[in-house]
Amino acid sequence: MIPVCEPYISARDIELVNDALTSGWISSAGKYLDLFEERWATYCGMPYGIAVSNGSTALDIAVELLDLKAGDEVIMPTFTIISPAQSVVRAGGRPVLVDSDPETWQMNTDQIEAKITPHTKAILVVHIFGHPADMDPVMKLAEKHGLIVIEDAAEVHGAEYKGQRCGGIGHISTFSFYANKLVTTGEGGMVLTKSKEHADRARSLRNLCFLPNRRFYHENLGYNYRLTNVQAAMGVGQAEHIFETIARKREIALTYSAAFAGIEAIQLPTEMSWAQNVYWVYGIVLGDERKTDAVHVMHKLRNKGIETRPFFLGMHEQPVFHAMGLFCGENYPVSERLSRQGFYIPNGLALTNEQIAEVIAAVKECLA
Ligand SMILES: Cc1ncc(COP(=O)(O)O)c(C=O)c1O
Repeated sequence: MIPVCEPYISARDIELVNDALTSGWISSAGKYLDLFEERWATYCGMPYGIAVSNGSTALDIAVELLDLKAGDEVIMPTFTIISPAQSVVRAGGRPVLVDSDPETWQMNTDQIEAKITPHTKAILVVHIFGHPADMDPVMKLAEKHGLIVIEDAAEVHGAEYKGQRCGGIGHISTFSFYANKLVTTGEGGMVLTKSKEHADRARSLRNLCFLPNRRFYHENLGYNYRLTNVQAAMGVGQAEHIFETIARKREIALTYSAAFAGIEAIQLPTEMSWAQNVYWVYGIVLGDERKTDAVHVMHKLRNKGIETRPFFLGMHEQPVFHAMGLFCGENYPVSERLSRQGFYIPNGLALTNEQIAEVIAAVKECLA
């Protein structure tokens, strides 16, 4: 079976992890944490970085910084992993959904303004599959209506929007460093922010809200969302080879796109003129003319030894939210089509050129 994603761990990553281990600094203090936070924030063009245990906890903290009150609303795409929506619900807010753009699969920014109400506090953009969302309209609306913009940049490490790195455009951004991400620490995450006040609060929330000068005394409730120095050491190593990582991801994607260009009735990942796509995953969407769904094609590929994954199922189709009375009766046709007709194929960094050729042959046969 050719796996959908295998991480690439360099000799340098291992050297740094060994150094962290032998130093004895194996918990959540140590030089690699400071280095990782500083380097990742600088790479993304943000002044403050707070490393946390994963991308979902990064979102918990980012959303907590909004100080939501019951009934406050956060506008976000329906087509996403559940993490951003659950952070808003857990913080007592209400996610308000918009559909996806049919070409880029990103949040449809034309639909945002109509959803803004006096209760709206923020726009939570989730950049999808390696391509940036269209940020200019989001930032303009945020300024006009006094809203905070959170970018969930888990899937777009190093991707660029009009020359600016994703995760460096909004007021707050979040990252995941899970094993399938371009930069990985196994499990891990980070919150970036432009505000010192947000950064101080995020640091406190990550560490049980201990007061800096009085331990075991608490004025607020926090979490243990800390990242370890050992994980951060791996992050420092991984961040050092992100340019090579992006180049390889793009090479794999462009090879696939050239090979699949002649196949009718499928949609391939795009790259808008204002974007640099880092192709976190390589998705294929079956055209309606095919009258078949992704599950069927994924099954055929599995029989040929090719692992795949389905696209997200929109938040408005999640039973857990219906049970809470959320999104009942709402429809988002683009997201629904992507969920049923989209899947992604292997594009991990450990993939060999021979495996890429095998994937291409199998996809061509299955979609002939
Ligand atoms: C857009 C997005 N946000 C958040 C997450 C959650 O990250 P984690 O798995 O590190 O909690 C993911 C994970 O894949 C993601 O793709």
